[in-house]
Amino acid sequence: MSWDALYSSAFDKVRGNIGNVGGVLLAYNTNIDAIKYLDSRDLERRINSVGKDEVMRYSDEIPEKITSLEHLLGGILWSVRRGKAAELFVESCTVRFYMKRWGWDELRMGGQVGIMANLLGGVYGVPVIAHVPQLSRLQAELFKDGPIYVPKTEDGKLRLVHPKDFVGDEENCIHYIYEFPRGFRAFDFEAPRENRFIGSADDYNPNVYIRPEFTEHFEEIASNARLAIISGLQALTKKNYREPFEEMKRHLDVLERRNIPVHLEFAFTADETVRKALVDVLGSFHSIGLNEVELASIMEVVGEKPLAKKLLAHDPVDPLAVTEAMLKLAERTGVKRVHFHTYGYYLALTAYKGEFVRDALLFAALAAAAKAKLGDVRSIGDVVKAMNVPVNEKAKTVEAVLEEKYGMKNGIADVDGYQLSFVPTRIVKKPKSTVGIGDTISSSAFVGEFALRP
Ligand code: AMP
Ligand code: GLC
Repeated sequence: MSWDALYSSAFDKVRGNIGNVGGVLLAYNTNIDAIKYLDSRDLERRINSVGKDEVMRYSDEIPEKITSLEHLLGGILWSVRRGKAAELFVESCTVRFYMKRWGWDELRMGGQVGIMANLLGGVYGVPVIAHVPQLSRLQAELFKDGPIYVPKTEDGKLRLVHPKDFVGDEENCIHYIYEFPRGFRAFDFEAPRENRFIGSADDYNPNVYIRPEFTEHFEEIASNARLAIISGLQALTKKNYREPFEEMKRHLDVLERRNIPVHLEFAFTADETVRKALVDVLGSFHSIGLNEVELASIMEVVGEKPLAKKLLAHDPVDPLAVTEAMLKLAERTGVKRVHFHTYGYYLALTAYKGEFVRDALLFAALAAAAKAKLGDVRSIGDVVKAMNVPVNEKAKTVEAVLEEKYGMKNGIADVDGYQLSFVPTRIVKKPKSTVGIGDTISSSAFVGEFALRP
């Protein structure tokens, strides 16, 4: 069958069945994304007025956190020069105020939980329960209508309410997202691809603050879920990770007792101690989702440095290196599903077999193309319209390599007792923005798979 035909049949199947999935629990990070599309002249003017030499220093070596304007502007340049995403915590009030005055073009739902809640609940109609560390009025307004719930306690009793009915009036957790297109110029630098730099003016999500409603009523909250997705651990450091990890492990125990498969959305985690700690708990998860930089960063901490290098050496990413790394991760930790996404194709390694794994990836690729094109997926109609985005031509060489090495057919092969599923994705030439595409892919594929399971 052609990829177009496989895409179309996968979409129909997922759309027909996604209503049967049941509740999805999403924890822990939700915030407000204030998106600013960078303008070259404006950026250069700001850098000159703060002091170009000092800013340039940080474009060579990215700071650990933002405590000055030089850090902020240098961090943005660091991302632009490399076409790479980065996210830093903004500690200084002066910088927070500067970013606020610089302004934004758009306010959008942010954080993996927030983005997935709006997609799963607001677009697919799948009931979700979301952890929102702070529910300000603005944060609440960014939630779409639909079966999206947050826990609220009244007189010690738990209720599940739509975020707009929470009426919390808590703090705003704002992440300033500086987006730039491929070819964006600043001084002598030119961005090799589109991407973003994030400055998080947020004291809750970076520390994985867990709300008392979740700590006190987790059993009851979990009783409403059939699936769970955990995310938001990426900013933790060796200094502060222990407490949220203990609470997460308690949550994982409850979910395991209830036979609820849990997906870990693994965002880039700079701290090696935290990364290792995540690998150590991975066996308690059913599934993990990651991109090439994230997979390489895991290979680095499990003593596979040469493999980590290989993962970052080619464009498109070498699928044999990816498969080897996914196998190592699955065998070492016992995680049953590894979902890898990169620019142009996805792979999933699963300890179980069936076309539904590949079909869920196809559905996810359509959702990703819609997200890239529009910035926000408003309806399932937006997803099906992404059928017009062409299938990535470069993925043909990737497919040929997999056919040759593993005898792959229609995107499915047996590898060492696992199933390897492959799909070429649809690439939007001029994406509206880049933030949140990874979350769209991972949540659509994970939930899509459970919609299609026999
Ligand atoms: P992450 O790096 O986790 O945010 O995820 C980004 C993912 O989004 C990549 O791995 C690609 O699969 C996908 N992606 C990025 N840009 C585009 C685009 N222009 N069109 C379609 N998918 C994209
Ligand atoms: C991170 C950022 C958040 C953004 C999300 C997108 O969680 O903190 O601002 O919306 O990534 O994936």
